[in-house]
Amino acid sequence: MDKKTFYVTTPIYYPSGRFHIGTAYTTVLADSMKRYKAMRGYDTRFLTGLDEHGQKIQEIATKRGLTPQEHVDEMARDAKKLWEKMHIEYDDFIRTTEPRHEKVVAKIFDKMMDNGDIYLGMYEGWYCTPCESFFTETQLVDGKCPDCGREVKRMQEESYFFNMKKYQKKLEKFYEENPDFILPEFRKNEIFNNFIKPGLEDLCVSRTSFDWGIKVPKNPKHVIYVWLDALTNYISALGYGSEDETLFKKYWPADLQIVGKDIIRFHAIYWPIFLMALNLPLPKRLFAHNFIMMKDGKMSKSKGNIVYPELLIDRYGLDATKYFLLREMPYAQDGEFSPETFVERFNSDLCNDLGNLLNRTIAMVNKYFQGKVHGYKGRINEPDEEIEEFARKQIYEVEENIENMHIANSLAEIWNLISRTNKYIDETAPWVLAKEEQKEKLESVMYHLVENLRKVAILVKPFMPETSANILKQLGIQDEENVTWDSLKDYDKLKNIQVIEKGIPLFLRLDAEKEIDYIKQGMKG
Ligand code: ME8
Ligand code: MG
Repeated sequence: MDKKTFYVTTPIYYPSGRFHIGTAYTTVLADSMKRYKAMRGYDTRFLTGLDEHGQKIQEIATKRGLTPQEHVDEMARDAKKLWEKMHIEYDDFIRTTEPRHEKVVAKIFDKMMDNGDIYLGMYEGWYCTPCESFFTETQLVDGKCPDCGREVKRMQEESYFFNMKKYQKKLEKFYEENPDFILPEFRKNEIFNNFIKPGLEDLCVSRTSFDWGIKVPKNPKHVIYVWLDALTNYISALGYGSEDETLFKKYWPADLQIVGKDIIRFHAIYWPIFLMALNLPLPKRLFAHNFIMMKDGKMSKSKGNIVYPELLIDRYGLDATKYFLLREMPYAQDGEFSPETFVERFNSDLCNDLGNLLNRTIAMVNKYFQGKVHGYKGRINEPDEEIEEFARKQIYEVEENIENMHIANSLAEIWNLISRTNKYIDETAPWVLAKEEQKEKLESVMYHLVENLRKVAILVKPFMPETSANILKQLGIQDEENVTWDSLKDYDKLKNIQVIEKGIPLFLRLDAEKEIDYIKQGMKG
C-alpha cells in the first residue's frame, strides 16, 4: 500500500536582507513538522524558497549597485547556507526567478484571462512599496499603510484585475464546510468576519510601474502582481502545469501551509480563490503563527535589536537555539526573545532538567550495575506504576499538541515527563536502596529511568534530532525497533542495555551574566 503523504510549506521569503530568528522560526517549525510526520510513517515533502520579484527587490539591488538577478543569486546562496547550517531538511527550494516557476505563472495568467477571471481595467489607489500592496483611501490608517505604517504613494495605471467577486459565495461556502481550514480559530473568524463577509473587491494583478517580474504573456508591458506570482510557488514547485506532474499528483493539496500572521490574508483569501479558478483542490490546513518580538517591539535595524540565528547557534548550539524558538512561541500569541530568558531556558530546561537526568541516570547505572540494565522487572517500587502511567499519558498529550500545532505546549509536556522522572529519583532514593542492598528494587528504578529517557529522546527527535541521537547513544540504545515513534507505546521491551561509562553533558551550564552580555553585544551587530 502507498504511504500517506504529508506536504508542508513555508512562505517563500523576500531576499531583502539577512534572515533573523523570526524567519528561522517559521522554517524550523516546518522542518519539525516534516520530521514528526516522517516518524509517524508519512511520505513527506517540505518546500521552502525565495520570493525574488517585485519593486522592493529591484530597489534594493539598485541601491547595492547590482542587477536584481545578481542580488537574488547572492541572497539565495546565503539562504541555503543558513538552512544547511540549521540542518533544515527541505526537499525543494523554489526561487520565483527559475524558468520552471515563471513558465507556470505565465500559463496560469493566460488561463485565467481565457476563462474571464482576469480582465483589463483602470487602477487608482495608494501603493505601499515595502508591502507590495495597493490600498483604497478608506483602508489607509492616518494616511499611511495599514500593514506597516509607512508612507504610501498615489498610483494610477491601466491594470489587469482578478474577478474576486465571482468567487465570493464559493469561498464563504468553503469556510463554512471546512471550519478547521485555518488555525488558530480566532484568525479564521477574523478573516471571515472582517474580510470575506463584508464583500470582496476585485484584485489588481498587474503593474506597469516597474519591470522586475514575470511579464503578462499577451501584454508584456505589464508585470504580474508579485503575490499572484509568489503564491503559485506552492504548486509550480511540484511541477503543476509542466510536462511532468508526478509530484503534483502525489502531494497536492498541501497538508499544512505555515505562514506568519502578517500574510494570512493572502493565503486565506487570494490563494484559495486562485486555486478555485484553476479548479484545483484547496490546502487542508493553513497555520498562522504570531511573531517573535523584542522587549522594545519588532526587530528592526534602526533599533539595533535584531537577533540573527548564527549568533545563538555558533555559541550555544543548534538544538538549544531551536528549542528556545519553539518553546517561547506560544500558540496564537507573540513570543518574546530576550537574552535573559534564553540563558534561563538553557540553564534550567536543558542543563538542569534534561542534562542532569541523563547524567544522574548514567552515573547510577555505572555505580550500581557496572553500566548494565538487564531488562524489565515489573512494577516493584511504589511509584513504578504511576511513572509508567504518567509517561503513557504524556505521549498522548505530546501527539495531540503537535497535531493541533500547539508546539510550545508539546515541548512543555515533554518537559513535564522529564520533571516527573527527576522526581521519581527523589521518591525512590536509589542511594538508600543501594545501602539496604535492595537489588531488585534498585534495578527497577534504573530500568524506569533509562526507559523514560528513551521516550524523551524519541519525543524530542522532531525538534532536536542531534540531542535525541546523543541521548540514545549514551544510553546504548541503538536497535531500530527501540527508537521509532511506534515504540513509544512499549514500556517493558529494553534488554541488555550497556550505558556509556562516563556520561557526556548534553549542555554545559552557562555563566548567566557573561552570556547575557555576550548576546546583548551580538544584537548590536
Ligand atoms: O511575506 N517572528 O516574505 P517575508 C516570526 N515573500 N516570524 C516572522 C517574523 C517574526 N518576527 N518576521 C518574519 C513574505 N517572520 C512573502 C511571502 S509566500 C507566497 C510570500 C516570518 O520575507 C513569518 O513567517 O516578509 C512571515 O510570514 C514571513 O517571515 C515573512 O517573510
Ligand atoms: Mg514581510
